[in-house]
Amino acid sequence: MTSPEVLARELTQARERTLALVDFDDAELHRQYDPLMSPLVWDLAHIGQQEELWLLRDGNPDRPGMLAPDVERLYDAFVHSRASRFGLPLLPPTDARAYCRTVRDRALDALGAARTEDELFRFGLVISHENQHDETMLQALNLRSGAPILGTGGPLPAGRPGVAGTAVPVPAGPFTLGVNASDEPYSLDNERPAHTVHVDAFRIGRVPVTNAEWRGFIDDGGYRDPRWWSARGWEHRERAGLVAPQFWDDGALAGTRTRFGHVEEIPADEPVQHVTFFEAQAYAAWAGARLPTEIEWEKACAWDPALRERRRFPWGSAPPTPEVVNLGGQAMRPAPVGAYPAGASAYGAEQMLGDVWEWTTSALRPWPGFRPMIYDRYSEPFFEGSGAGDYRVLRGGSWAVAASIVRPSFRNWDHPIRRQIFSGVRLAWDV
Ligand SMILES: [Fe+2]
Repeated sequence: MTSPEVLARELTQARERTLALVDFDDAELHRQYDPLMSPLVWDLAHIGQQEELWLLRDGNPDRPGMLAPDVERLYDAFVHSRASRFGLPLLPPTDARAYCRTVRDRALDALGAARTEDELFRFGLVISHENQHDETMLQALNLRSGAPILGTGGPLPAGRPGVAGTAVPVPAGPFTLGVNASDEPYSLDNERPAHTVHVDAFRIGRVPVTNAEWRGFIDDGGYRDPRWWSARGWEHRERAGLVAPQFWDDGALAGTRTRFGHVEEIPADEPVQHVTFFEAQAYAAWAGARLPTEIEWEKACAWDPALRERRRFPWGSAPPTPEVVNLGGQAMRPAPVGAYPAGASAYGAEQMLGDVWEWTTSALRPWPGFRPMIYDRYSEPFFEGSGAGDYRVLRGGSWAVAASIVRPSFRNWDHPIRRQIFSGVRLAWDV
């Protein structure tokens, strides 16, 4: 179990990240960069509101809180769609910051008194929630028009030539899918429980698909040829007029891209970002491959076939460091392919964690024995068949994900048409 001291440090680190992403004037924080995203000031107060709910009110919204009920309701993500949050009478930034500060002071007091695993888990949940919103805020800031207000990011290791387009084999056999609280106390409900599944042999990309490879798809007319696309994918491509990944400046002619307002050359050996599931699927078909299932992905990432047990991380049990993985948001972009040979999984797959979220073919489903956690609307409303809509699972986390919240078992999901997220592609093949 992670000690209360570590949880306190992670709370503080998440808050430093959040505050850096709202360190702008009030007008900026109220801007709607895109109807897909909330104004930053909504995320800020929502972070505090969720923290108050889970840590100070036992998850019970009927227990009186610090905000008036009608104000608190503004921050219920299930009541107000992202597109509508712009027009709400939100707390002004000064009030939102003060509210978050007050909640945090009391939460740290509560952490000092927390004893049980369940109490400590809630802190892990809140750390995960705040960091997930930090990534969402980065997505919003990337959609922002105008002169840049964020930098271009920190240094990254160089890539290795010769790894793009190569694959590693994953032989057939059983493995342990998912995790238990006994091994991963801060895993979320949809990652549990651990259970054995058989996986047929397959091959998986050693690294994610690069911008240069994607360029080949464009130049070969991939966006104009319905043969590579699913019926739904083609329909979306036509309606949305897709001709290249989002943020490539001249569409099909793209030589540059815009990233957080900075116009720059498209790095050839960087994993492609900002593609929909439908584009990923079409690219895979064009390349004579397919996308992995999320179960295949997790096996390639976490299973150690020699020891017949899971690794905590692809590379082993050591915590993530900048030598093996690009996480944490400082880089502001994915690392070139081949940058982390020491981060390879037992099967030799590299960059499984960090860099880009990787689309899989899987809809979000509960693992057998699923039990909702205290935040019972985190996963369940999004399961296939729940009526909530159409989602595909993404795995591995992006460069914008905090190292403390991502694991090989971590599951993310989004609509197959979304691409403002830091989404990329890893191919798979039948054997
Ligand atoms: Fe949230």
